[in-house]
Amino acid sequence: MTKETAETHQLVLLPGDGIGPEVIAATETVMRTARDCLRLEGIALSWERHQIGGAAIDAAGGPLPPETLSAAQGASGVLLGAVGGPKWDALAPQERPEAGLLAIRRALSVYANLRPATLLPGLESHSPLRAVQGLDLLLVRELTGGLYFGEPRERSGEGASRRAVDTMVYHEGEIRRVAHVAFRAARRRRGKVTSVDKRNVLECSRLWREVVEEVSQEYPDVELEHQLVDSMAMLLVLQPQAFDVVLAENMFGDILSDELGGVVGSLGVMASASIGDEGPGLYEPIHGSAPNIAGKDLANPLGAILSFAMLAEHSLDLPWVARAVEAAVKDVLSQGVRTKDIAQGTPGEKIVGTREMGERVARALAQSLHTRQALNETYF
Ligand code: IPM
Ligand code: MG
Repeated sequence: MTKETAETHQLVLLPGDGIGPEVIAATETVMRTARDCLRLEGIALSWERHQIGGAAIDAAGGPLPPETLSAAQGASGVLLGAVGGPKWDALAPQERPEAGLLAIRRALSVYANLRPATLLPGLESHSPLRAVQGLDLLLVRELTGGLYFGEPRERSGEGASRRAVDTMVYHEGEIRRVAHVAFRAARRRRGKVTSVDKRNVLECSRLWREVVEEVSQEYPDVELEHQLVDSMAMLLVLQPQAFDVVLAENMFGDILSDELGGVVGSLGVMASASIGDEGPGLYEPIHGSAPNIAGKDLANPLGAILSFAMLAEHSLDLPWVARAVEAAVKDVLSQGVRTKDIAQGTPGEKIVGTREMGERVARALAQSLHTRQALNETYF
């Protein structure tokens, strides 16, 4: 019997470009299962699609149409596929698909970008690192400051005297608030923060280290260490298990998160949550639009599906749904089901496309949620 609706959540999906629409469609299959089970618990989940990136440029003349932004601002959470592609490469920087992504991050004030790097069971041998096991690290990337947004940003000169300027600016408050996110996360995890900077060269990094030290005074139970970004890039390959929470400014975090994608064996399985102090969070797989495989049912939807799990946890306050989705993903992987990017050529492996991967995760999720409801237990 359906309970009376006690809670209503409206989500916005922004499929975007390249493989974005395919991974979001596969995630919707999983979301429909979650929605049907939640309805029995009196929780209403619904969503609508809007345009962003190149798709929005083509349909509405700009990468972030006003109606997309206002729908996102009114939602409980926003799930985005990917933006960008060769079709829009010739456009001016502020007109490009990526400008839409940066603008929505900034407009939603989602300054902390959580990028977990977990080695999923069964994918160990897919990591290029022989000895990696039990890797479980959370990268906290500052998302709305630094080189991505600093002014001035300009091009001048001609011919042999062409010149370009980007500016890295950080205000103390921007560092402080994202540092708090990292320390709070460390408290729920293994109690260690590694802050990344380049303070032997950059003034912004010297301020970064100073402020992170100050914030750490409020968390005496959390261990803090600092690493220079260049040596951190090496340490993530040599001993990724040595880290718990890694805190980095925008550009360093962008680079290190792709490196972590390599370390866990595929960018395709990596999810992310971008959160601020209030308003909806923005959730995206970190893989990008991958135009070379777009439209071929080849993309791995697990990064998008696990981003929906992060949405359930952080924006809907439904951690048991998040755990159930993660368990469904692990369940499907343990059956040897793989998209091409994580295939290993082992016997018993079953290679599936984007759509079928979504369907299998949805089925595994339905099974575990129905079992939970049949038993009327809250064991998640
Ligand atoms: C990411 C992406 C974006 C970024 C691009 C598409 C603008 O690389 O989310 O990591 O640099 O933030
Ligand atoms: Mg990136």
